[in-house]
Amino acid sequence: MPSLIKILNIENVQKVIRNISKVGLFTTVRYVASDLIFDYKYHIDTINTKMLDELDIESSNKSNGHYYEGTNYYVFKQVFSEIAIDPSQSFLVDFGSGKGKAMCLAAELGFKKVTGVEFSLELVEICRKNLEIFQKKSNAKTNFEVIHVDAAEYNIPLDANVLFFYNPFNEVVIAKVIANIMKSYELNPRPIWILHLYPQGNMAFAKDSRIQLEHEEKDWSIYRLG
Ligand SMILES: C[S@@+](CC[C@H](N)C(=O)[O-])C[C@H]1O[C@@H](n2cnc3c(N)ncnc32)[C@H](O)[C@@H]1O
Repeated sequence: MPSLIKILNIENVQKVIRNISKVGLFTTVRYVASDLIFDYKYHIDTINTKMLDELDIESSNKSNGHYYEGTNYYVFKQVFSEIAIDPSQSFLVDFGSGKGKAMCLAAELGFKKVTGVEFSLELVEICRKNLEIFQKKSNAKTNFEVIHVDAAEYNIPLDANVLFFYNPFNEVVIAKVIANIMKSYELNPRPIWILHLYPQGNMAFAKDSRIQLEHEEKDWSIYRLG
């Protein structure tokens, strides 16, 4: 759990300023309060951002990646309210899982299985610790797994049906991930939901004619395959 001093850092202040300009003061206060409450409730640290420059990452895709920032509770819940799935029968993969915030939120929704894919070993280790604490405190029955791998190299399990992307990387990596999604889909055709949050102009999923756009908001899109 981060102390007040650790929370009052330059990255968090910049994040708050960015949020105020994007969503206004009221929503920013709601977001910050919910992020703080989440970490205090479970005694974990997911709120502090981590820049990729500060991390030892052995991947040629380091320059194609975005820094760690946890998904906000409200945004996450809003996105999931738009997809018709039964979490207790679903398997979510979080591409670029960082410290595990989205993984915990998926467990709160009751997902059967949640796998995080992350290329920073330091973040993988923090994530595994966070999940262990979260699981004890929440009694979540979710089957968690955190894999230390570049998302571009990750073979998507044939039973994964929800693929979560919170602005983890640019189109270079997304193109490779799409090829892996197609391989998984061809071996086991099934409905696959692709959730892309804060794409920041990265329209790789939208440009692929095999993938249908199901729902679009200013900051996130839901796609479907099959
Ligand atoms: C914006 S954070 C999202 C964190 C998490 N998904 C969440 O929503 O709470 C993006 C994460 O993607 C990771 N990342 C970036 N490029 C990656 C790659 N090629 N393979 C695996 N992880 C990557 C970063 O290290 C960072 O932790």
